[in-house]
Amino acid sequence: MSALANECGAINLSQGFPDFDGPEALREALGRHVMAGHNQYAPMAGVLPLREQIAAKLSRYYGVEANPDAEITVVPGATEAIYCAITACIRPGDEAIVFDPAYDSYEPAISLSGGVTRHIPLTLPEFTIDWDRVEGTINSRTRLIIINSPHNPTGAILRDADLRRLEQLAEAHDLYVVSDEVYEHLLFDGERHCSVLQYPGLRARSFAAFSFGKTFHITGWKTGYCVAPPALTAEMRKVHQFVAFVAVTPVQLALADFMAEDPDFAAGLADFYQAKRDLFCDAVANSRFTLTPSAGTYFQLLDYSAISEEQDRDLAERLTREHGIASIPVSVFCEQPFDGHYLRFCFAKTDAVLKQAGDILCSI
Ligand SMILES: Cc1ncc(COP(=O)(O)O)c(C=O)c1O
Repeated sequence: MSALANECGAINLSQGFPDFDGPEALREALGRHVMAGHNQYAPMAGVLPLREQIAAKLSRYYGVEANPDAEITVVPGATEAIYCAITACIRPGDEAIVFDPAYDSYEPAISLSGGVTRHIPLTLPEFTIDWDRVEGTINSRTRLIIINSPHNPTGAILRDADLRRLEQLAEAHDLYVVSDEVYEHLLFDGERHCSVLQYPGLRARSFAAFSFGKTFHITGWKTGYCVAPPALTAEMRKVHQFVAFVAVTPVQLALADFMAEDPDFAAGLADFYQAKRDLFCDAVANSRFTLTPSAGTYFQLLDYSAISEEQDRDLAERLTREHGIASIPVSVFCEQPFDGHYLRFCFAKTDAVLKQAGDILCSI
């Protein structure tokens, strides 16, 4: 959709990336480390100062202790952490449970390892997990459950009761969990992120994946990290060693400096993005789209049932070509035909762009 948006000169609210830059101090730190000659391979697990900052952050935000040497691995993007974690868990014939709509990187990794993806649809209208259905899907071949909260593309979040039920199921059936927490700081209306790392039964069997790209508005730096207990980290690193081996050295050093200087940056993100979500929701309030304000992420779903009976892919393409606004059809995140009529819009954009997008959407 980004390619089509460029071709049509459309406002691009499709792909999930900010149209503004990360903090100046962070960008300056990167330049400094490049010029200071920190341009050779980092250790496989990541540079120690960054792993120490990550450990401090986990303690500060979640009250969780993690050993920088044995439990934290810096990776070139959360996507790589997710790939390595899945590959470390899945053998031919193993089953992994994924909730649809789902971020698109999970199933390919399961398939490449010879595994079978069991898709469970989230329950509309709030895109919740039906845990009884999960329990009914688990069998002797089930090895892994993949969760994502806050959730791309729906903006839904998992709450304490969800994590407790997952903990109970994972322990009872001896399952691993890959928890995609890249939007950990983007929760609105006073909601708090529940990380698998905060639940002892999950902490012992989970790989949690995080992304600096989402937190510091630098998706193009493609750097994240994986937190898992020592035995799981050892397995995940065996894959990481031959997929990427390392993340980019000066980027890691710059992130370590910035996190040390401004440990509260992430705490301000929820307010920053909530203001953008509210601006976008206000801007489309008088349109024929209907919406439930997103609880997290920088995505807002708009329901177009009152406007068109078209398939979401057709409508998304038509809006891009004819109205100059690009979004993502939610059905592309689903394996099975999808009941809803939703388009996903990314509100990580400047206020002027969001207002302009609102004007267009109100005219449809
Ligand atoms: C749910 C989800 N997981 C993972 C990623 C990838 O993060 P990274 O860019 O750090 O690989 C994204 C990026 O859009 C995402 O939305």
